[in-house]
Amino acid sequence: MRALTWHGTHDVRVETVPDPEIVNPRDAILKITSTAICGSDLHLYDGVIPAVQPGDVLGHEFMGEVVDTGSESTLQKGQRVVVPFTISCGGCFHCQIQQYSCCENSNPAEKQDLSAKLFGHPMAGLFGYSHLTGGYAGGQAEYVRVPFSDFGPIVIPDHLEDDKVLFLSDILPTGWMGAENAEIQPDDTVAVWGCGPVGLFAIQSAIVMGASKVIAIDHYPHRLELARQLGAETIDFRKTDVREALMEMSGGIGVDAAIDAVGMEAHGFAIDNMIDVVKQKVGIGADRASALKQALLAVRPGGRVSIPGVYGGMTDKFPLGALMEKGLQVRTGQTHVQRYTKPLLEKIEAGELDTTFLISHRLPLEDAPRGYKCFHDEQDSWTKVVLKPDMEKTP
Ligand SMILES: NC(=O)c1ccc[n+]([C@@H]2O[C@H](COP(=O)([O-])OP(=O)(O)OC[C@H]3O[C@@H](n4cnc5c(N)ncnc54)[C@H](O)[C@@H]3O)[C@@H](O)[C@H]2O)c1
Ligand SMILES: [Zn+2]
Ligand SMILES: [Zn+2]
Repeated sequence: MRALTWHGTHDVRVETVPDPEIVNPRDAILKITSTAICGSDLHLYDGVIPAVQPGDVLGHEFMGEVVDTGSESTLQKGQRVVVPFTISCGGCFHCQIQQYSCCENSNPAEKQDLSAKLFGHPMAGLFGYSHLTGGYAGGQAEYVRVPFSDFGPIVIPDHLEDDKVLFLSDILPTGWMGAENAEIQPDDTVAVWGCGPVGLFAIQSAIVMGASKVIAIDHYPHRLELARQLGAETIDFRKTDVREALMEMSGGIGVDAAIDAVGMEAHGFAIDNMIDVVKQKVGIGADRASALKQALLAVRPGGRVSIPGVYGGMTDKFPLGALMEKGLQVRTGQTHVQRYTKPLLEKIEAGELDTTFLISHRLPLEDAPRGYKCFHDEQDSWTKVVLKPDMEKTP
């Protein structure tokens, strides 16, 4: 089959690789109909996530048609399903308390050492996201093997087209959990750092949850415009002092809740960020956390900070004092996707959530390397790329 493979920093290729096969009785094989490139994939593309190996198939946002099932899969051939990017067994301690992205059984024992050393405990399995998270082949491919297929995938009714439901695999639940973790109350002023797909869905979710004011922060004009169309007020951090503006826009108090939808590759010329850029380049560890640091300083005393943005290591000059002295609450994590697929599918069907407004480009799988390059280099206009294996390659 054809698949998008990683070969090094800024080097991804579409190649012919072996077809996936059923390995365990709970597996299913999907024929991919749609798959997307995520901001998280850019961390792999930029080479800032360890333990990716040349030839690894990427992709953790995908959906498709069931074409083969193991003896214990509950799926049936021909069903259309969306698959959560977090691989979860459904039966372990963490899965039973709905902390699916902490599943103890999905990252094979022989792969657990590195993440256990880094984080104190091994990570769960994720599709197409390095050998830290199991080394599973991802779904930016013609076919993919789905472990625990009796538990994770959600069956999609025929009348909903792919583009409406594809993002149930990751960014829609991630934006939703990002807002839920901010514990939004009806009178809240909420600030969201980053107007990429995750930030945009966090903004939409915060508004649906009843926040009275949402303030979106980025530096790309088109992405800020998308945030305004959702109902947010906006700040361009290259033109405006963010903390001062947020104080003013929140009546001199500071925002009630902050959502960091930027993660470990923050942009900007703040001095701490410039140092972090250099440290990240030479591989001495530092996550570029300047958006998160700004959020911790801008949120009001007693406020809430939610971090859907991905971090992978250590960070320097962290304002621990602000966190403690202001009595802030912080919640974060890889999304517990399986918790949200059914209720969010219902909201899509009811027309309460718009899931297609952010798709800027639909490309054939063969064009995936161009999709990565443009989503990385031209972030303003390339807001979300969907790849379709069946689409004809344009000359
Ligand atoms: N927790 C999860 O399970 C989960 C799931 C999906 C994605 N993520 C993470 O969420 C983050 C965002 O994902 P995305 O797909 O939206 O990525 P993206 O790269 O498309 O968007 C990030 C946005 O942040 C903006 N930004 C950069 N520095 C900033 C700063 N200092 N202040 C304000 N804005 C700034 C960028 O201009 C960009 O528009 C990534 O770290 C991704 O890995 C987490
Ligand atoms: Zn993703
Ligand atoms: Zn589990």
